[in-house]
This record gives sequence, structure tokens and C-alpha cells, in this order.
Amino acid sequence: MARELTFRIFRFNPDQPDVKPRLQDYRLTEEPGMTLFVVLNKLREEQDPSLRFDFVCRAAICGSCGMLVNGRPTLACKTLTKDLPAVTTLMPLPVFKLLGDLSVDTGVWFREMSLRTEAWIHTDQVFDPNAEEERMDNAVALQIYEAERCIECGCCIGGCATANIKPEFIGAAGVNRVARFMLDPRDKRSDAEYFEVVGTEEGVFGCVGLMACDDNCPVGIPLRDQLAYVRRKMAAAGWKLRRRAPAARA
Ligand code: SF4
Ligand code: SF4
Ligand code: FES
Repeated sequence: MARELTFRIFRFNPDQPDVKPRLQDYRLTEEPGMTLFVVLNKLREEQDPSLRFDFVCRAAICGSCGMLVNGRPTLACKTLTKDLPAVTTLMPLPVFKLLGDLSVDTGVWFREMSLRTEAWIHTDQVFDPNAEEERMDNAVALQIYEAERCIECGCCIGGCATANIKPEFIGAAGVNRVARFMLDPRDKRSDAEYFEVVGTEEGVFGCVGLMACDDNCPVGIPLRDQLAYVRRKMAAAGWKLRRRAPAARA
């Protein structure tokens, strides 16, 4: 027999600050193959047109549907109700600006992080559209591709203890972004220059290493490896800079 499911959903409209945040219960009958995408759309169409949430692709590609499902950050579009208990709590991802109910603005956060980490190729080489395409080592290209798979869903940030208490922390998504450029031979930044960007408590040294991010990334980016890679490089760069500092003062 089909289950009756209860969804306990966070409700708050920042444009109506007088109305306190609350959890509101909705009920519906489970259907085969049902995802949270189907659930939320059914609830909005059939029960409550005021419910706010975000979906674009429905296929774990756009990253817009990140939310806390029973406390765990994940993509709602790829969450099947058959894997959920009879009562499920849905909350918006913390850290990001709340737009209303389950809808948050991850775009501003990711744009600021990209600017702070200078997430573009740094080179003096002038682009020549007529030049022959430069070949890249396959293994390096694959490592860059791995980091590039980030869909900016924010799940690693929403579940990160440091990001929740320190808004300036760039999180695993930020460190992954930096790793992408460190790996790229076209980016001519030195380790000392990267240290300026990420060798701080707001960067890789703010990470407490419990690896919730690695568990929560819905596309399986190896965040544990990316954090270790950047931390190793930045620890070595910091050590060299400290050794050079007394000589520079002398
Ligand atoms: S390992 Fe670091 S970046 Fe990942 S969730 Fe923990 S504190 Fe955040
Ligand atoms: S690293 Fe993974 S969890 Fe973090 S924003 Fe990118 S896709 Fe989402
Ligand atoms: S709707 Fe695009 S990732 Fe879920």
C-alpha cells in the first residue's frame, strides 16, 4: 500500500520579517519513483502556491536545488522518497542568503568566492587566435576536469562547520576552485602568490578537516584530496616564506 508522507517544511519570507519562521506540515501519498522535485511541485500546485524553492534541470546538473533533507545537505531533485522516512524535514541551506522558504541565493556567494580566489588563468601570454592549440597532458587535463565538475550547489558549504560560523571561509568549494587553477600549467601564479589568496584562516587553514564536505558533495568531487593537495602546497609555501622573512629583514 502507498505510504502517506509528511513533509515538514521551513517557511519564512524575509520580506515579511514580522511573521516568524516556522515549520509547516504538508501531507501527500507516495507514488512510484517519486523525487523531492515531484513532491515540492505537487505541493505547490495542489496545496500551497506560496511555497518557494528552486529547481532548473531536475537532473543534478544545475546545482539549484540544494537543501537540508532531514539535516543533510543534498540535491532535492535526485532524492527519492523511497529512501526517506514517513516524516521528512526540509530546511534551506544555511550560510547562503535566504530568499524565502527553501530558496537561497548561492550565486552571490560563489561569485564573491571566485573573485576572492581570483578564479581565472593568470598569465602574461597574449592570446593569439591563429596559434595552434596547445596540447595538455591527459592526466593533468583529467585532474582539472575533476575539479571543474563542481555544480556550485553549495552542499559542501551548508554542511561545513567552519563556513557556518565564519562567513568569510571559502569552504571546500573554494579550495577546490583554487586547486583547479593550481593544477593548470597555463596559470603562472607562484605558490607564494597562491598563499596570499588561500594560505589563511579564511582559506585552507580554516578547515578543521572533519570531511563533511567530502561526504555531502552530490557529484562526488574528491574534496578530501583537493583539501589535502592545497593544504600541502600552502604549508610548504608558508614555511618557505617564513624562512625568507628574517633574511629580508636583515
Ligand atoms: S573538511 Fe574543512 S571544508 Fe570540509 S566540511 Fe570540514 S571544515 Fe568544511
Ligand atoms: S564541491 Fe560538490 S558540494 Fe561543493 S558546491 Fe561543488 S558540487 Fe556542490
Ligand atoms: S534541479 Fe538542477 S541540480 Fe537539482
